[in-house]
Amino acid sequence: MNSAAIYPGSFDPVTNGHLDIIERGLKLFDKVIVAILINPAKQSQALFSVEERIDMLAISLKGIPNVEVDYFDGLLVDYAAKKNATAILRGMRAVSDFEYEFQLALMNRRLNRDIQTVFLMTGFRWIFTSSSIIKEAARFGGDVTSMVPDVVNQKLKEKFSKF
Ligand code: PNS
Repeated sequence: MNSAAIYPGSFDPVTNGHLDIIERGLKLFDKVIVAILINPAKQSQALFSVEERIDMLAISLKGIPNVEVDYFDGLLVDYAAKKNATAILRGMRAVSDFEYEFQLALMNRRLNRDIQTVFLMTGFRWIFTSSSIIKEAARFGGDVTSMVPDVVNQKLKEKFSKF
């Protein structure tokens, strides 16, 4: 049986920390489905459109086998069941992530007991990075080259040069 895991998130935008988790996930599962949450209520707060986020993920993951990039709305566990995935992957950076992740995992388990949440510890060099902090640094001209894929670096520059 082929095992598949969903790696869900906003990916606004994808970072090297996310890529690290995807690579680790591929060591455990036959397939990793990277799924962007479509949340119309939050789209106005997002920097990138869903289409831009999909494009950046697809380019960043080009050549890596057994990864699919997709999007979903509604409940994550329903999407996971529809994709025949048995697990949800989440990256854990620091203790500060724990409370939210614990709550999410327990709610998802309550909603569907057949789907397990698997926490992977991100590589040490990515422990301090997040999409939000990277966007903030880039917005004020900070160099985030080493923290994001090239395509994201370029898109951040384009986005913020317009402001
Ligand atoms: O990267 P993020 O933004 O922290 O990801 C959060 C995400 C997308 C995993 C979470 O918001 C989610 O799964 N939303 C879909 C609705 C859902 O199923 N929520 C959890 C149970 S109420």
